[in-house]
Amino acid sequence: MDPEAFRTAGHDVVDRIADYLQTVERHAVLPSIEPGSLAALFPTEPPEDPESIAAILDDYSRLVEPNVTHWQHPGFLAYFATTASGPGILGEMLTAGIGSNAMLWRTSPVATELEGVVVGWLRRALGLPDAFDGLLTDTASTSSLIALGAAREAGGLEASRLGLAGRPTLGRPRVYASTEAHSSVEKACMTLGLGRESLVRVAADAEFALRPEALAEAIGADRGAGHRPIAIVATVGTTSSTSVDPVAAIADIAEREVLWLHVDAAYAGAVAIIPERRGPFEGWERADSIVVNPHKWLFTPLDASLLLTRRMDSLRDAFSLVPEYLRTLDRETPVRDYNEFTPQLGRRFRALKLWILLRWFGLEGLRRRIERHIELAAQLAGWIDADTAWQRLAPVPFSTVCFRHLSPGAAGEDARLDAHNAALMEAVNRTGEVFLSHTRLADRFAIRVAIGNLRTEPRHVERAWELLRQEAAALG
Ligand SMILES: Cc1ncc(COP(=O)(O)O)c(C=O)c1O
Repeated sequence: MDPEAFRTAGHDVVDRIADYLQTVERHAVLPSIEPGSLAALFPTEPPEDPESIAAILDDYSRLVEPNVTHWQHPGFLAYFATTASGPGILGEMLTAGIGSNAMLWRTSPVATELEGVVVGWLRRALGLPDAFDGLLTDTASTSSLIALGAAREAGGLEASRLGLAGRPTLGRPRVYASTEAHSSVEKACMTLGLGRESLVRVAADAEFALRPEALAEAIGADRGAGHRPIAIVATVGTTSSTSVDPVAAIADIAEREVLWLHVDAAYAGAVAIIPERRGPFEGWERADSIVVNPHKWLFTPLDASLLLTRRMDSLRDAFSLVPEYLRTLDRETPVRDYNEFTPQLGRRFRALKLWILLRWFGLEGLRRRIERHIELAAQLAGWIDADTAWQRLAPVPFSTVCFRHLSPGAAGEDARLDAHNAALMEAVNRTGEVFLSHTRLADRFAIRVAIGNLRTEPRHVERAWELLRQEAAALG
């Protein structure tokens, strides 16, 4: 594709993206698609002969665009939002154009150095001390994997050199997190060879926050049994209910027990850019590592996860391997080759889109939008609390509301209420106007409205509430 053909097609692509964003509300957020029906729309055989970009883009508009779940739709209130903001999309385009592999300083000096700058910007914006350095990864799952890999090294297991197999004298490694912690923590334990059973799920309280006394007891019992505690994961903003673990109390235990403390703030961490809202984060500045996902609530297109740590050396101990072909003369000078801190070699230039969008929004612009989401969630929680036909099932510290409808016919019967609320959520989602998800809280089906989409306005939340009441009445 010569540059002139690229220019013409590129303008067409930008038009298609702008049209999509402008008209995204004409789509059902969750399109009704029969599972397995899409593959048949595409040929089985790859094309032998070249096709025109015009034909390919037309097929894109016909076959791809309508068949996505529309994360960019302002009625997307399911899961935690990932919105691709305009400046974020432009950053992705420029990243693709430059095509850098940021594995070594030499292979992308500016990607490497701008990553350091952007990590510093975010760290300051979050109100964290200079002692934190860090890097950008694809997802919180990877960030937590890296953090626990580093914790495993810092805990003296020497696993990166010796592995864990056939070393019975080590004792069983142990990682602690609440029953509400994200599955990525368990997956990290699987992947790091610690095993799923190395993760001790510590009991949470009635508000779904980890109970520090239970944590201290679990560690004590494990030490007594000859196990080997290595890390604690505290969550600020759990996936189900957005509950907040008491990080300061957990940090006390981590310090006393000399354990790595990792804070998973993948979703809620963005709130810490608002100084007045840093209460739930108290104590996170004492962590060894913290993950915050710009691709959740900082309007960054997938993928971008920020891993901050005070202990870059432990990351390097866990993941550095430099064969001859990756040795560069620059190694003699104080430059950083980020691949040494991560399991993978090739790295995207993620700092570019963050640099662009942080400048375009300004911290003030980001704060204002996050604040609006928090206010919308408080408003929805207020409507629920004011209506005896509805029951809120968890506190709302950020922008996610969990609740259920108390169908009169099923009052007091949790199993029937579960089925009723599942049917209610499906009915609301079938309207296509909004998309809600669910979870289980205290073993009850909870409808979950997560507000965090850049384009969500008050009218979308009002409409969600209207649809919920309307469909609840229709279900009887
Ligand atoms: C608290 C928490 N941690 C981790 C993750 C995993 O994030 P990612 O998809 O970036 O791996 C999620 C996803 O929603 C989450 O809510």
